[in-house]
Amino acid sequence: MSHSILSALGLADVNPGTYLGNGEWSKTTDAGTLAPVNPASGEVIAKVHASSATDYETIVKRAQEAFKTWRTTPAPRRGEAVRLCGDALRRHKDALGSLVALEMGKIKPEGDGEVQEMIDIADFAVGQSRMLYGYTMHSERPGHRMYDQYHPLGLVGIISAFNFPVAVWAWNAMLATIAGDICIWKPSPKTPLSAIATMKICNEALQAGGFPDLFFLFNDAGVELSQAFVDDKRIPLISFTGSTKVGRHVGERVAKRMGRSLLELGGNNAIILDESADLKLAIPGIVFGAVGTAGQRCTTTRRLFVHESIFDNVLDTLVKAYQQVEGKIGDPTLATTLMGPLNSPEAVQAYLAAVEKAKAAGGTVRTGGKALTDRKGNFVLPTIVTGIANSHEVVQTETFAPILYVMPFKTIDEAIDMQNDVPQGLSSSIFTQNLKAAEQFLSAAGSDCGIANVNIGTSGAEIGGAFGGEKETGGGRESGSDAWKVYMRRQTNTINYSNALPLAQGIKFDL
Ligand code: UN1
Repeated sequence: MSHSILSALGLADVNPGTYLGNGEWSKTTDAGTLAPVNPASGEVIAKVHASSATDYETIVKRAQEAFKTWRTTPAPRRGEAVRLCGDALRRHKDALGSLVALEMGKIKPEGDGEVQEMIDIADFAVGQSRMLYGYTMHSERPGHRMYDQYHPLGLVGIISAFNFPVAVWAWNAMLATIAGDICIWKPSPKTPLSAIATMKICNEALQAGGFPDLFFLFNDAGVELSQAFVDDKRIPLISFTGSTKVGRHVGERVAKRMGRSLLELGGNNAIILDESADLKLAIPGIVFGAVGTAGQRCTTTRRLFVHESIFDNVLDTLVKAYQQVEGKIGDPTLATTLMGPLNSPEAVQAYLAAVEKAKAAGGTVRTGGKALTDRKGNFVLPTIVTGIANSHEVVQTETFAPILYVMPFKTIDEAIDMQNDVPQGLSSSIFTQNLKAAEQFLSAAGSDCGIANVNIGTSGAEIGGAFGGEKETGGGRESGSDAWKVYMRRQTNTINYSNALPLAQGIKFDL
C-alpha cells in the first residue's frame, strides 16, 4: 500500500532530501537521516537524507541568482508558472492526498482537501498576479505625482508544520512566486516525504514550462541548519508555522536581524452556542472542528461555551455523536475512517497528561479520555471534559489533540469574555439566530481573534480570506485577501514634472 503511494509520486525507500536547483537533488548522505513514521502503524515509511551546510549554501546562492531574473519577469508571466503548478497538483491530487494521509495521519478526504487548498491558492495567485495594486496619491505640491508600488522582496524562507505538511507551503509559495520571490522550504522533520513529492510535482511542471528554479528544499536532521536559516540576513522573510514556543524564538531571532517574519502559531479556538443556536448546524460544526484531523489543526475547536438553558441537551447530543466517531477511528487511508491517529507517541503522552490535569482540577471526562492501547499506532479517543474553568492552565494551553472543554454561560457578554480570555487568538465562532448576538460577537468589542465566524465552525477556513491570528498566535496573515503584500516591499514614488522645486510642508530654503 505505502509502496504504491510512494512510487506513484517518484519516491523510493531512501530519498535525497535536498533540492539544489538545476534539476539536481543533493547526493549528501552524511548529514543525518530522517525516518518518517506511519502514525497509524508505527512503521518507518521511507528514509530521507538530510541536508548539509554546503547544500544549504548552494541553495541560497542559487536562489539569489534565480531572484535576479525572476524579479524583473512580468508578474502575469510569474502567474503562468503558478498556473502550471496548480495544474500539476490537480493531476497528482489523489496520490499526494494519499501520501499526506499516510505520513501525517489525517484521513484521506482531508489529505485530498489539503491538496485542494494548494490548487485553490494557485488559482487565486494566478489572478492576483495581475492585481499587485498600489495606490495613487494626490501630491500637495503642484506639478507632482505620487504613487506606491510593490516590488519583489527577495528570498522567502518557509518553515512548515507536520499537521499541514503541504498546504502551508503552497499558501506561502504561490503568492511569493507571483510577488517575484524565490522560496526555500524547510518542512517538518515528521513529514519530509510529502514535501519532496510536492517539490517534484511543482519543479517538473516548472521545468516543462521553461521556467527557472523557483522552489528549493532542504531537510534538517537537527536544528543547526534551521537556526542558520532563521538568522540568515540573505532571507528577508521567514514564514513560520508551528508552536507558540518555537515561533516566539523564531520571531525574536528574525527581529534581531531586522528581518520580517510571518508567524502562524497556536490557537485555542472556541465556539459559542447561544439559546437560539440551530443545533442541526452547530453539532456537526462542533464535531468536525473538535475531532477532525484528530484535533491537530491550529483551528481545531478546543473550547465550547453553551448557554445554560441548552447545556444538558447539547452535551448529551455531543456525547452520542462522539461515540459514533469512536466506531470510525482507524487507518486514515481507508474510506470508512473518520478519525486517524495522533502524529506521534509524544502527542499521545501530551493528550493523556492534559486529561489527567483536567481530572485533577475537578473536571469530568464525559466521553473518551483514553489512548487505544489494543492496537499499533498513536490512537486516542476523542474527549469531552466538563466542570473545569476557562481560567485553568490546561484549558488555557493548546494541547494538539481532540480534547474539548465544554463550559456553560448565562449572558453573551460573559461568553465573549471567556472566549477572549486565553493567550491565543486564532479562530472563533458563534452559532446564533439572533442578529444582535452575531453582530456583538463580530464587533470591536467582540471576538479578539483573526478569524470570527457566524454559524460555521472554527476550522476549515477558505483560502480566499487572510488566515492568521492575534496575540500568541503571532499576528501573521497568509493566503487570501491582501496577504500577498507581506511577500513584497512597498515603495513610495514622487515624481516632479514641473520646472520648480517646491518643498513639502511649505518650507522655504532659498539659496
Ligand atoms: C493549520 O492547522 O495550520 O482553517 C492550518 C483550517 C485550514 C488551515 C489550518 N484551512 O482549518
